[in-house]
Amino acid sequence: MDDLISYESHFAFGKNWSAYAAKITAEEIAEAENGLSRLLGGGQRLDGQRFLDIGSGSGLHSLAALRLGAREVLAVDIDPDSVATTQAVLERHASNAGGIWRVEKYSVFDLSPEALGHFDTVYSWGVLHHTGDMSRAIRCAADLVAPQGRFIFALYRRIWMDWFWRREKRWYAHASAQSQRRARAIYIAFFKLGLWATGRRFSRYVESYRANRGMDFYHDVHDWMGGWPYESISAPEVEELMHALGLVCERSFVRKGRILGRDFGLFGSGCDEYVYRRQ
Ligand SMILES: C[S@@+](CC[C@H](N)C(=O)[O-])C[C@H]1O[C@@H](n2cnc3c(N)ncnc32)[C@H](O)[C@@H]1O
Repeated sequence: MDDLISYESHFAFGKNWSAYAAKITAEEIAEAENGLSRLLGGGQRLDGQRFLDIGSGSGLHSLAALRLGAREVLAVDIDPDSVATTQAVLERHASNAGGIWRVEKYSVFDLSPEALGHFDTVYSWGVLHHTGDMSRAIRCAADLVAPQGRFIFALYRRIWMDWFWRREKRWYAHASAQSQRRARAIYIAFFKLGLWATGRRFSRYVESYRANRGMDFYHDVHDWMGGWPYESISAPEVEELMHALGLVCERSFVRKGRILGRDFGLFGSGCDEYVYRRQ
C-alpha cells in the first residue's frame, strides 16, 4: 500500500478544485453552509470552536465553518493546488467571517496532536478513502479530536462495481487530458440515458446539483472518474472502527443499497456521511 500514499501517485484533485473555485458565488457558499449545518444537526453553529478541515480541496467548507462561527480554522491538503485554492478562496471570501484561519500543505498521515493540539471539530469530507490507506487515515484524523469533540467525515459506500471503478480510476488519473475528456463524454452520455430512462431531465439535474453542498456536476464527474487512490467502506465497518477508537455515533446519513444491502454502482458510488463524538 505504501506506494499509493505519495502525492505523485494521486489524481490531480487540486487542479480540478482551482477550476471549480473560479465559479464560487454567494449561492455555492450558502449551500456549503447549509451542508455543514445539516451535519451539525441543523441550526447548530461552531461558535468559539477550533475546526480542522482535512483535505480542504476548494476551501469552500473551511469558509462555511468560519461563517458558522468557528474561532480558528486550520485547512490542510496534500495537494499544493488545493492548498493554493483554499488560500485564495479564504482570502477572497472570509474577510468579514470573523475567526482566524490558516492553510497548510500536510498529509493526514503527518498531522499530530502533539504539534497541532486537539480540535473541537475535525472535518474530512470525501478525503480519507483517497489516501491509499483509509483505516490508518481514519485513525490519524480521529486522534486529533478533542475530548467531547466531533469527528465529521464522509466516505464512499461499498458498491458491487467497486472492482471496475478502481481500475477505471487508476487508468484515468494517469491518462492524457484528451483521453480523460473522451471518458467523461462517454460517462455523461450514459448518465443522460439513465436519467432519461427514469423520466428525469439532465438539464434540471445539473441545475439543482448545487444544492449538493455547493458542488458542480461537471467538476464532480472529473473528480469521481479520477479519484485515485480509491477505497470504500460500509456503515457497520465504520462503526466497528469508531467503537475501537472510543467514538460514539451522533448521527449519520447512510444510504441503504438495493441489492443485498449494496447499490450496483453503474454510475459510481456516493459518500455516506458520519458524525461521531469522542466520549
Ligand atoms: C474529493 S476531494 C474533497 C475536497 C473537500 N473536502 C470537499 O468536500 O469538497 C479530496 C481532497 O483530499 C485531498 N487529499 C488526498 N489525500 C490526502 C492526504 N493524504 N492528506 C490530506 N489531503 C488529502 C486531495 O488533494 C483533495 O483535495
